[in-house]
Amino acid sequence: MLTGTLVNLRAVEQDDYENLHRWVNGSEGMLYWGRPGNTESMWDVAERERREASRGNSRKYIIETNDGVPIGQIDYYDLDWPSRSAWTSILIGESGYWGGGYGTDAMRTLLRYLFLQLDLHRVALNVHETNERAQRSYEKNGFVREGVLRDWAFFNGEWVDGVVMSVLDRDFRLLDR
Ligand SMILES: CC(C)(COP(=O)(O)OP(=O)(O)OC[C@H]1O[C@@H](n2cnc3c(N)ncnc32)[C@H](O)[C@@H]1OP(=O)(O)O)[C@@H](O)C(=O)NCCC(=O)NCCS
Repeated sequence: MLTGTLVNLRAVEQDDYENLHRWVNGSEGMLYWGRPGNTESMWDVAERERREASRGNSRKYIIETNDGVPIGQIDYYDLDWPSRSAWTSILIGESGYWGGGYGTDAMRTLLRYLFLQLDLHRVALNVHETNERAQRSYEKNGFVREGVLRDWAFFNGEWVDGVVMSVLDRDFRLLDR
């Protein structure tokens, strides 16, 4: 388990599939995830979890509050050892917890592990241009904007740009002292 301040990150167990299923089908969260109207069966969820877990260069965690309430998921993926880089994504599936500092703490906890234990150099993510709360949360962990992906996603009848953000180990260490 990875221990944060407001949350802990723990392994995904089979009992979590029901929550994962609810979160990836939740209309609010999926709007920010860029997949409004997403419909995935329990089978889809279970298949994806098994497939991703067998890859070896990715890991998903359940975000749990200090008092043991599962509120979302966070992962790293496409970990590339020669360049010591990885990608990350996060979803607080329980929308009642948005804006309470949980997402920032979960990301901080994952970054500590990636930089201080795995000795990675760079962690990156993609976010919709319109998702200001997410970008603000990422900035608090040292992520900076690197570029814009034009018309990255299409939903609700409009094209939305994407933003690539990344944080380097040296910047994170300064921020996390
Ligand atoms: C994005 C997400 C992980 C952030 O976690 P969180 O716990 O909600 O965020 P935090 O409370 O830690 O931080 C949010 C920050 O954004 C600010 N904020 C909140 N709503 C905002 C808005 N509409 N516009 C701009 N800033 C906003 C908050 O004030 C806070 O900044 P502050 O601490 O300087 O005041 C979470 O909201 C989430 O999972 N949302 C739904 C799915 C999603 O967007 N995933 C990311 C896809 S890239």
